[in-house]
Amino acid sequence: MTRRVDVAGLDEVAPGTMKMVQVDATGILLVNLAGRVRAMQGICSHEYFELDMGFLTGDSLTCALHLSRFDLDTGEALDPPAELPLAMYPVVVEGGRIILELPEGPIPVNE
Ligand code: FES
Repeated sequence: MTRRVDVAGLDEVAPGTMKMVQVDATGILLVNLAGRVRAMQGICSHEYFELDMGFLTGDSLTCALHLSRFDLDTGEALDPPAELPLAMYPVVVEGGRIILELPEGPIPVNE
């Protein structure tokens, strides 16, 4: 079972930017890659650090604490010290709104 959660307007996440939202007290990072919106866990899979403090570089996100990069299509950790991928969440844009398709119950996060 999944649930649809409206988390933001598309106009709140301009191309090339990111925005942290909270769902059930879980941080979820929205990234707009030239119009392609991605959603992933907002806390690094290496240690507790908020990823909206990081940097977007091409199709990857660099964590600002230890500089691991993550693939924004798959969540894969591209550099150490992070080893676990970021959990990615299905996202659709409808009527200018960003909607996540999340499982019922706890939101999966890799840590
Ligand atoms: S906390 Fe992100 S790479 Fe260490």
